[in-house]
Amino acid sequence: MKKQDVINQILGDRLENLANPLLVKAFAPTNIALCKYWGKRDQELNLPVTSSLSISLGSKGTSTELCLNEQAQDIFMLNGEVMSLSSNFSRRLESFLDLFRGRHSWHFRVETKTNIPLAAGLASSASGFAALVLALNKLFDWQLDSHQLSILARLGSGSACRSLWPGFVEWSKGIERSGMDSYGKEISAVWAELCIGLLMVNENEKPISSREAMQRTVDTNMFYSLWPEKVNQDLVAIKKAIDEKDFLLLGKTAESNALTMHSLMLSAWPPIQYALPETVAVTQKIWALRQQGIAVYFTQDAGPNLKLLFLSADAALIQSHFPTLEIIKPFETSSSLE
Ligand code: PMV
Repeated sequence: MKKQDVINQILGDRLENLANPLLVKAFAPTNIALCKYWGKRDQELNLPVTSSLSISLGSKGTSTELCLNEQAQDIFMLNGEVMSLSSNFSRRLESFLDLFRGRHSWHFRVETKTNIPLAAGLASSASGFAALVLALNKLFDWQLDSHQLSILARLGSGSACRSLWPGFVEWSKGIERSGMDSYGKEISAVWAELCIGLLMVNENEKPISSREAMQRTVDTNMFYSLWPEKVNQDLVAIKKAIDEKDFLLLGKTAESNALTMHSLMLSAWPPIQYALPETVAVTQKIWALRQQGIAVYFTQDAGPNLKLLFLSADAALIQSHFPTLEIIKPFETSSSLE
């Protein structure tokens, strides 16, 4: 099945809706997986092998302004700069928008602003595709529900399907070949004391995309067959931790899940290592702090940067150990998901 088939199924006649002549705006938060998505059962539709669970980062994310462009080409802007149409950023955006041009062959002007470092493993593509789908929904007045929007965002980037809500979100893997049952769902829990600390180690673009890295892991690592069971156990533990506000269980499970994902990459062939020496130094410092009784854990995505997990009562102490840490309280910032 192709992406276009899924879009036709969701939008039907609405794919031919006339566009709103005005500029529309949308915001989506970035999300950090506490139980990771690593491996696809369908590469075209970004359908995952397992379910996953994330937390959105409040006002950290992407704002997108979208309107039609009269000329016969798209214009893409990123943080105030016009992007060359041959850049990776533009090519990804253009091929996603190709799915929505309909028989009018619309061209678009997309102005994206993000307050997170791009391509540094901080899920900028997740908030980017989610914000774009929200903006398209407004521009064409599709009036889709959040699950349909989540499916469309997934076609841009898997983890984007979790970026349509604040707070905790679970992405159910689904079993249908069309992926119509594979979308994000909000978990209605508030954990006001929970903090996420962003620790930037390196802001350069990652040497290998998550798409390529996850496929290589699936294709070459005999231990990958154990990953779905690990995820099943971790999902149960994380949901219990959220329910009972059991921070030690949450931290331990999220850290172990991330380390397992990275060990699967290390034992793929050729091996993949996103960690830099500074990443390793920070993880060892975190383990040393835990030995001293400080409740701090980490998670790491497809990049060298770390996200620390701790409770607000320890925020000042953790900040004193990591002065450059940017602390986010996901349940304190009200995010404008209009
Ligand atoms: O959605 P993608 O293709 O950028 O992959 C995201 C992969 C991880 O960030 C490492 C894990 C996750 O669940 O977000």
